[in-house]
Amino acid sequence: MPLKIHIETYGCAMNEYESDRTRRLFQEQYGYEWSGVPEEADLVLFNTCSVRDKADQKALSSIGRLRAAKIMRPGMVVAVGGCMAQSMGGELQKRAPYVDLVFGTHQWSRLPELVEQVREKRERLLETDFYGWKSYRFLPYRESTDSHPVSEFVTVQNGCDKFCTFCLVPFTRGREVSRPPEEILEEIRNLARNGVKEVVLLGQNVNAYGRDRSGLISFPELLDRAGAVEGVARLRFITSHPAEMNPELIDRMADNEAICEHLHLPLQSGSDRILTRMNRQHTLEDYRGTVKFLRNRIPALHLTTDIIVGSPSETEDDFKATLDAVGEFEFNDSFSFCFSPRPRTKAAEWKDEFVPPETALERLFRIQELQTELAVRRAGSYLGSTVEVLVEGAAKRGEGLFTGRTRSNLTVNFSSGSRKPEGLVQVRITEAMSHTLRGEHLEVGYVG
Ligand code: SAM
Ligand code: SF4
Ligand code: F3S
Repeated sequence: MPLKIHIETYGCAMNEYESDRTRRLFQEQYGYEWSGVPEEADLVLFNTCSVRDKADQKALSSIGRLRAAKIMRPGMVVAVGGCMAQSMGGELQKRAPYVDLVFGTHQWSRLPELVEQVREKRERLLETDFYGWKSYRFLPYRESTDSHPVSEFVTVQNGCDKFCTFCLVPFTRGREVSRPPEEILEEIRNLARNGVKEVVLLGQNVNAYGRDRSGLISFPELLDRAGAVEGVARLRFITSHPAEMNPELIDRMADNEAICEHLHLPLQSGSDRILTRMNRQHTLEDYRGTVKFLRNRIPALHLTTDIIVGSPSETEDDFKATLDAVGEFEFNDSFSFCFSPRPRTKAAEWKDEFVPPETALERLFRIQELQTELAVRRAGSYLGSTVEVLVEGAAKRGEGLFTGRTRSNLTVNFSSGSRKPEGLVQVRITEAMSHTLRGEHLEVGYVG
């Protein structure tokens, strides 16, 4: 009987990518089968996140739910990896003695070997060393027999050197390492051969790609080479840092047709005092200049952001500056969070300046209210227009409807006379909600 694997994933797109490539590796090279039920699997893998306290709590409670199954089936291997595992290490082993393997963010490519070691020797393992760029290995990708969705993530960089004072990522993923371009392009070519039409390049600080060591190509050059791969119709990248934006990159975004009119550019705060304390390495005016340049060169740009409210010492005036900035930049969407103190970060030490949780929550509601208004207004501008949609398949809701995304990354649910629309299609927008559009497929203009 083949062994079964189950993976639970928390956190960002990079975690999703690592989970997906790990599943493919175990299925294709080690003969595992997927199990939808963790209790029935021989290898249960938790890929964790630690960006906010809530993320830790979520993963810890899921891991806890597996305890009974592990007692019933001691042969099952329970492995916890990713950012929370990296951050908690031995403490996690103590808290959850039924976990066999705790591994960090640099161990993904060694996972089959570590699992085998646990299985053969029946020993508990803790592996959370960081490797320098010379020994760090990105997960290998071999052409997969399992199908791919039309849009796929490809990690191009791991780690972060920015050390924003609130953020745990530099401690959980280590220093920035750019992936060799040949590896990235080989993976993209394979994906394109397997029907992938959209590629989303991933890195915590993706627009700093190539700056961590000499001999690499620049990020704009990587975009050009990736966009030139046959079959790749759309290219996106997340997440960019405002201090790493530059005219060359913006020109490339404007001139290279494969690059979508979509940029996620976290602002975090509209107050210069808070930006400085966050160590974001730019001012509001710098950000304003970048947005001006972007909108000049890419008028249809769909701009999204991340905001933190209730940072240590944030006053009502600081918060109002953030509200004003969100209004000024008219973000199409924003992801906003209450500050969560993370172990080892600088901001976690500023306990005397913590903002009461009820104040932070009230600010979060206010910013989200404003953002919903903006998103509805922005989405409304699509009404009556015809947009290019990359079809993903049947819509989850709405019988007979199909779903896909615009170049700006909005979801469109649409009706179609074609039994199975595929690829890139033209859709006329008939209804606009804040995060989703509704429309009808225009079959004349079909380009897929
Ligand atoms: N690298 C990206 C950047 O430069 O903004 C994003 C990294 S982080 C995984 C995603 C978002 O989580 C951040 O943009 C920030 O808004 C939020 N975040 C990170 N640490 C946080 C904390 N301690 N409390 C609340 N939100 C946090
Ligand atoms: Fe965290 Fe800042 Fe790095 Fe983004 S740039 S991952 S927020 S330290
Ligand atoms: Fe979370 Fe690590 Fe991503 S902390 S957001 S899984 S880089």
